[in-house]
Amino acid sequence: MADRDRVLIAPSILSADFTRLADAVAMMEAAGADWIHVDVMDGHFVPNLTIGPPVVKALKRITELPLDVHLMISNADETLEWYLDAGADGLTVHAEATHHLHRALQTIRAAGRIAGVSLNPATPVEAIREVLGEADLVLVMSVNPGFGGQAFIPRAVEKTAGLAELADSEGTDVLIQVDGGINTETAPMVASVGARCLVAGNAVFSEPDPAGAIARIRAAAEAAL
Ligand code: DX5
Ligand code: ZN
Repeated sequence: MADRDRVLIAPSILSADFTRLADAVAMMEAAGADWIHVDVMDGHFVPNLTIGPPVVKALKRITELPLDVHLMISNADETLEWYLDAGADGLTVHAEATHHLHRALQTIRAAGRIAGVSLNPATPVEAIREVLGEADLVLVMSVNPGFGGQAFIPRAVEKTAGLAELADSEGTDVLIQVDGGINTETAPMVASVGARCLVAGNAVFSEPDPAGAIARIRAAAEAAL
């Protein structure tokens, strides 16, 4: 499914001003974002608590951009349908937190949404070999999930390369997404080894010119293809 010549940019609204989410989304639309990345955290799987289905539903009303919902929660098996009902266009569950990963991915796909599976930095790509055929997207975490603004873990570059090789060897065409510490320096490192969708929070929202920041990250990534 991945367009090999383009790199999608998915700004994470975790780094936006939560009192002005609609403004942040409008700003991302005007800035040429491809998707809106929504970080759902439960205070169990990760040491932070953010937003849930009502906010996803509210965001759905105010944007045409696809909502890329990243579930960092420990009971995704039981609650993922809440996010499908709320209007998530893509839904990514963590391999470490989902007991029935195969079933979860099938459920997301059956709803006609982009089915994603995510790997923490400590989880090897081999952990998802058996479900690669059920996934549309694989998210390589390049920080430990829980917070925006953390430093990129360099080992994520080799891991992304390893995932691209594994996907090829399995004959699957998954979209590789990388999330955490993405900026103009790290974007080309992961794009050059197969990432085609980059999540960026701090590098977009901490800039006085978020549109320019998105354009620079995309240009740096695409120059490395
Ligand atoms: C981390 C989240 C990320 C985070 C990225 O747990 O999944 O999406 O918001 O933020 P930056 O780009 O600031 O690392
Ligand atoms: Zn995320």
